[in-house]
Amino acid sequence: MARKMLVTGGAGFIGSNFVHYLMANTDDVVTVLDKFTYAGNEASLEGLPKNRVTVVRGDICDAPLVDQLVADADIVVHYAAESHNDNSLHDPRPFLDTNIIGTYTLLEAVRRHEKRFHHISTDEVYGDLELDDPNRFTEFTAYAPSSPYSSTKAGSDMLVRAWVRSFGVQATLSNCSNNYGPRQHVEKFIPRQITNILVGDRPRLYGEGLNVRDWIHADDHSSAVLRIVEAGRIGETYLIGADGEKNNKAVLEMILTRMGQPADAYDHVIDRPGHDLRYAIDPSKLRDELGWRPAFSDFEAGLQATIDWYRDNEQWWRPQKAATEAKYKQQGQ
Ligand code: NAD
Ligand code: TYD
Repeated sequence: MARKMLVTGGAGFIGSNFVHYLMANTDDVVTVLDKFTYAGNEASLEGLPKNRVTVVRGDICDAPLVDQLVADADIVVHYAAESHNDNSLHDPRPFLDTNIIGTYTLLEAVRRHEKRFHHISTDEVYGDLELDDPNRFTEFTAYAPSSPYSSTKAGSDMLVRAWVRSFGVQATLSNCSNNYGPRQHVEKFIPRQITNILVGDRPRLYGEGLNVRDWIHADDHSSAVLRIVEAGRIGETYLIGADGEKNNKAVLEMILTRMGQPADAYDHVIDRPGHDLRYAIDPSKLRDELGWRPAFSDFEAGLQATIDWYRDNEQWWRPQKAATEAKYKQQGQ
């Protein structure tokens, strides 16, 4: 019997990658529950087999709808979130609604129906590291979120842990580092810079660009999540990372060079308030306990494939570009 997966946020960047990954690597049937906010995109689910993927347009805060969909699923994988730090600094409220109340609504439903739950989270719940800190984040690092986004993700993680302990919910959690790859909204760093160059605009670097992110390809995130869903221990948290630390300036220079531009053809803009300096994941637990390994070991090759995807799929990103840049312009970024 094929497993029935309910994937929340399955029309977003990483959730849609996971749905594509399931179609290619399992016999699962999937129901996507997505509100189609500005970040959800029907085109991200195009070409998938209609007999295996059903898309439901709805809100994870809608308890009756969530109850009905959870009752019908075997496993719930929860990606839906407000996901962009910059937006959270200007309008935090939707982050509280979706990330906290939405997660609570799902937890109550999986509790009622005794369904397996996997919660997708971020390494940003741990705050940031100094550039020269020899340590990386582990499952034992204390939570210290900096932004409304990361604090609401931290709150959602705490809810999941409490529902495991207090109510015996069968859940696992994962906290992943920064993802890159196709179908990422143009508000995020890598797609913003690639599409700026494609439209003839200059890339924008916050501050000096020395902030470090630990990049992982979205396909590797998906393979790790599937591994945890299938073999992870209930109640456990797994950190997902692929040893991809790079500073923003270095990533931007790679993009520019690979797109045939001078490496310094960008503008410095005002820094993000509270901007986390460095994220870095120690993925030992996932590797040692579950034997997971990333497939994308060459960041530059993955970046080139991502540049090629945006060059070849202008119809996917073009409708979002002007409004995204108008928002950044208002913020001086
Ligand atoms: P995204 O913004 O691209 O997609 C989020 C999706 O959730 C969208 O399709 C949106 O329509 C949907 N959504 C938002 N509010 C909803 C609601 N109330 N009800 C139903 N659907 C709703 O985000 P992403 O980058 O794909 O991130 C997905 C998950 O992965 C998030 O939980 C995020 O915290 C986590 N994560 C992201 C990264 C990253 O680098 N992007 C890294 C680690 C973890
Ligand atoms: P982002 O993609 O927003 O992810 P996160 O805030 O979750 O790490 O940003 C990645 C890094 O790039 C972060 O240090 C902020 C920086 N950045 C820029 O320098 N310029 C930009 O235009 C954007 C969107 C981000």
